[in-house]
Amino acid sequence: MSRVVLGVGGGIAAYKCADLLRKLVEAGHDVTVVPTASALRFVGAPTWAALSRHPVAADVWTEVDEVPHVRLGRRADLLVVAPATADLLARAAHGLADDLLTNTLLTARCPVLFAPAMHTEMWAHPATVANVATLRARGSVVLEPASGRLTGADTGKGRLAEPVEIAQLAELLLRRPSALPFDLAGRHVVVSAGGTREPLDPVRFLGNASSGKQGYAVAAVAAARGARVTLAAANVELPDPAGVDVVRVGTAAELRDAVRKAAEDADAVVMAAAVADFRPVDPALHKIKKSDSGPPTILLEQTPDVLAELVATRRDGQVLVGFAAETGDTGATVLEHGRAKLARKGADLLVVNAVGPGRAFGQADNAGVLLGADGSEQVVEFGPKAVLAAAIWDAVAARLV
Ligand code: CTP
Repeated sequence: MSRVVLGVGGGIAAYKCADLLRKLVEAGHDVTVVPTASALRFVGAPTWAALSRHPVAADVWTEVDEVPHVRLGRRADLLVVAPATADLLARAAHGLADDLLTNTLLTARCPVLFAPAMHTEMWAHPATVANVATLRARGSVVLEPASGRLTGADTGKGRLAEPVEIAQLAELLLRRPSALPFDLAGRHVVVSAGGTREPLDPVRFLGNASSGKQGYAVAAVAAARGARVTLAAANVELPDPAGVDVVRVGTAAELRDAVRKAAEDADAVVMAAAVADFRPVDPALHKIKKSDSGPPTILLEQTPDVLAELVATRRDGQVLVGFAAETGDTGATVLEHGRAKLARKGADLLVVNAVGPGRAFGQADNAGVLLGADGSEQVVEFGPKAVLAAAIWDAVAARLV
């Protein structure tokens, strides 16, 4: 069981962190909540105590004999600060220690994950920008806020990342404390996710079971590592990863347009989407009815292979990654199929998943083997999709010039 300290800052998004706490506890972690005094004005101590099943540690003057700020920081495997307000980021960046949370930040030697939330102007202010840069340079992970509706009537960048995403990245850091270096700053990366749908008629389509979870994890990890991320999402019902530019697409043709356009200045493209290989040549304009002549014959044509096109038009130094969901058969194993596909497609890396009932599609966990065009082979054991995502970015970062 891992020990997590959840530091809660004084912002209205504190209420969403009750859900984050719940997710961390449900994942089996021992979570101690350290709210700031102003956080407690938004959400009271009983909520944190009930959900964490621990008394809330809020000030340095309680249980002084146990020196709580030293004990909490030293024993923690991970510190998550959410919502990280502008004030909290400033105090952390400057090493101030005027309450239990900031004291704990100074005594902790574990990874620290900040999930900021504030108004757009505060996030964009040079003081906050400098504080975030300081924290990142020091090795802390500072997520980008999400864009969307803020507390008032206004919208913009400044919303807290979704609790599910923060929990996912927290889990990643617990398993691999060095999984989120700020090494993709200044890079533009493109990720495709989900499954395309090819219309048969106005109400029916040929689709597949991809949930988009793996591609979304790839995008979220890239953003946490500092990349500018464009995510082409085909029919995905997941919240947008924070700080990621999401382009929604439906068909293989739309996905191809979105990916090719974004790839023009991209340093890397990861094709995690399950793209239809075939589509109806002539989708019906009206709903296809049952008729006396029996079921219709639907003529299919092959869709363009987006990954192969990217390979053919790649910019100098661009790293291209494909996914291959494979089942073994009598002719070849899963990995043999993967090797053959990597060679056929000409990508730099191919992530091979074994698929079948209950595996990969729609699940939170995944396993994979990263095959490199250089002959390398890296096994990523079954685990959260963010762990596989981090392994992909390690392999991509090593190939970026
Ligand atoms: N892909 C693509 N465009 C397509 C089909 C697939 O870019 N029209 C990409 C997928 O996003 C994935 C990789 O190619 O990264 C492998 O997809 P897969 O469907 O397994 O490959 P195929 O070439 O279609 O191989 P198979 O013969 O196994 O169907």
